[in-house]
Parts: sequence; structure tokens; C-alpha cells
Amino acid sequence: MVSSPFLLPFALLLSFSLLFILPFNQSQFSFFADLQDLALFHTATLQLQNSHAAATAGAVSSISRLGISSNPKPKIAFLFLTNSDLSFAPLWERFFLGHELRYNIYIHADPTVQLTPPGGVFDGRFVPARKTLRASPTLISAARRLLARAVIDDPLNLYFALVSQHCIPIHSFDFMYSFLFKNSITSLRSFSSKSSYKSYIEILSDEPNLYERYAARGPTAMLPEVSFEQFRVGSQFFILTRNHAVLVVKERTLWKKFELPCLGEEPCYPEEHYFPTLLSMEDPEGCSHYTLTRVNWTGCWDGHPHLYSPEEVSPDLIHMLRMSNSSYSYFFARKFSPESLTPLMQIADDVIFRD
Ligand SMILES: *[C@@H]1O[C@H](CO)[C@@H](O)[C@H](O)[C@H]1NC(C)=O
Ligand SMILES: *[C@@H]1O[C@H](CO)[C@@H](O)[C@H](O)[C@H]1NC(C)=O
Repeated sequence: MVSSPFLLPFALLLSFSLLFILPFNQSQFSFFADLQDLALFHTATLQLQNSHAAATAGAVSSISRLGISSNPKPKIAFLFLTNSDLSFAPLWERFFLGHELRYNIYIHADPTVQLTPPGGVFDGRFVPARKTLRASPTLISAARRLLARAVIDDPLNLYFALVSQHCIPIHSFDFMYSFLFKNSITSLRSFSSKSSYKSYIEILSDEPNLYERYAARGPTAMLPEVSFEQFRVGSQFFILTRNHAVLVVKERTLWKKFELPCLGEEPCYPEEHYFPTLLSMEDPEGCSHYTLTRVNWTGCWDGHPHLYSPEEVSPDLIHMLRMSNSSYSYFFARKFSPESLTPLMQIADDVIFRD
């Protein structure tokens, strides 16, 4: 925990000096990069010491500086976490069309992969990124980096939706916006009064191999911060409130445990544990415990869900994917193969964005 305002600049200075004094190696590189993250999270935290007041007051004043009249609209920050092309950019573009003042986009793309720039509303929306690896804490870092950038960037970002390049929207923007903000945003202040706005994140405790996942770094490695009884699992993709986004960005204690390497690749997946465990420990009532991102695990045993092909895309599939076993409807679905774009675009206006 960085408690003094002088500690962080000092640490950065120290890391610069070390770079010159010591021979450059991989671990120093990662040490330096970790400090950059720390500085980013620290900035986000400082800006948001009082997240409610800052969000509300900051939003109102920045808007009045722009000369836009009162009652600014809260926004959803869409956080794209990717290590390949954003193949569904045209579908998302249509999803966003006409809602300019109600969303922001942030993209974390693995810098070791050459992407085709998606352009349009995605243009210039890339955040400083680092390499991501499956089944490693780098996916947690990337999500936290996205959250921190989005929190700092716009005080009007009140919800933060993490999606991947394989996710597609299966409802209209208006449908999602009304569901999240409950149709009745009268002022930003009403959002700050907590309680009725929650995060949509899956939090499960009854998965069969949960103990193996808990013990992936050794049976006692998570103690004393996280006991097995506190350990949770859930989908990597979530929608967090601003309060929870700030909580995640500030967090240090659990991160120190979840960033430890696993002893083997299976069963690791730290990104499926860090967020559900943290939020279930800090604010279980503030979370839905279910995800709004539909995924099809039927018949999948290798850690990869069913990948929908173009032949499978149909109006019926979209209607089926929306349905949950409860009263809510899914917002997003994954995973779709890049070739599915063409049939998806054909049913976009008449099916996907009609609700
Ligand atoms: C889920 O995937 C299986 C194949 O793994 C497929 O047979 C089934 O139709 C899919 N279910 C839905 C709802 O798409
Ligand atoms: C609904 O519940 C059934 C039975 O538990 C399960 O097989 C199915 O996958 C569930 N569907 C969804 C959309 O979660």
C-alpha cells in the first residue's frame, strides 16, 4: 500500500536508477512496469478519494466548463480486452450509433500482437497495454489497467463493462442502458446513493474443482488473506459500478496473492477468481452474483467454450442466447468466430438491436 504521497515518486526514481546501475533483465523490466501500473492506480485512487462526491461534482463541473447545460447523462465505459483483431467492430459500431453522449470505449490490446486498427468509434481508444497470457495474472492486470484509465478519463463513466474481441451485443444499447440505470436517472447524485445500483458479476462457491483452483499456488499460499471458504469463481467478464471499479483499482492485499504464479497451468485461471473473490469479500450485497455475458460450455472440457460458426448464426440463436434461467436477459454472448460477422450484420437491425 502506498501511504505517503512521496513514496511513489521516490519508488519511480529508484526504479530508474536501478535500470542504469544493474544489468537489464526480465524481472527488472517487469518490476519497472509494475511500478507504472502502481502509479496509474495511485493516480486513479487520489482522484477518487471520495468517489461519490468526486464523480458527481467532477462530472457537473467538467460539463459546465464545456458549456453544456446541466443534467449530463451517465455513461457506460466499454472495456475491450483483446489479443487479436476486433473482428466485430462493425457490429459494435452499429450498436453505439446514435448514443454518442452515453458511452466511452477503452481498448487494451496485447502490444506483442499486430492488430488491424478498427477505426471509426474505436479510433484512438487504445490504452497503454502490456502482454497478456492465458491462465496468468496478466489478464487481471490488464482489466485493472482498463478500469483505472476509464475511471480517470471521465467522471461520467458510472458503469464499466468488460468484454473481449469474441463478445457480441445481443440487445440494443437502449435496452442495456435502461436496465443498468433503471430507466429513471434523474441526477448523477441518485447513482451515488449506492444501494439500488449493483455490479453484474458472477460469484460462485459450489464449483466441483474449486479446491484445486484454490490450491493452485500451494495449499497454504493464499493464507491468511483468503481462506478456502472465502474463495470464489466466476466469469472473467463483468459489469462493475464505479464504486466497485475504484475498489478494484485501489486493491493491493489480495492482488499480492493472486499475482503469485501457479504451480502448473491447470487449474489456474486467476482472472476467474480475483474479481469474484474480492467483491464477495468486500460487498456481496452490491453484486448480482450472475453474469450478463452468455457463454456456452456444453460439451467443452479444454477451458475453451463453444465457438459459434457463421452457419449457426440465426434469429433463433440470438433469442435463445438472451434467455437466462431467471428474470434477467443476457446482454452479451461469446464466443463467435470472426467469420460470423457477415450473418450477424444481416440480422443486426431486425433481430439483435430490436427488443
Ligand atoms: C452449445 O454448444 C453445443 C455444442 O458444443 C451446441 O450443440 C448447442 O446447440 C449450443 N447451445 C446453444 C444454446 O447455442
Ligand atoms: C438453465 O438451467 C439448466 C438446468 O440446470 C441448464 O442446463 C441450462 O444450461 C441453464 N441455462 C442457462 C441459460 O443458464
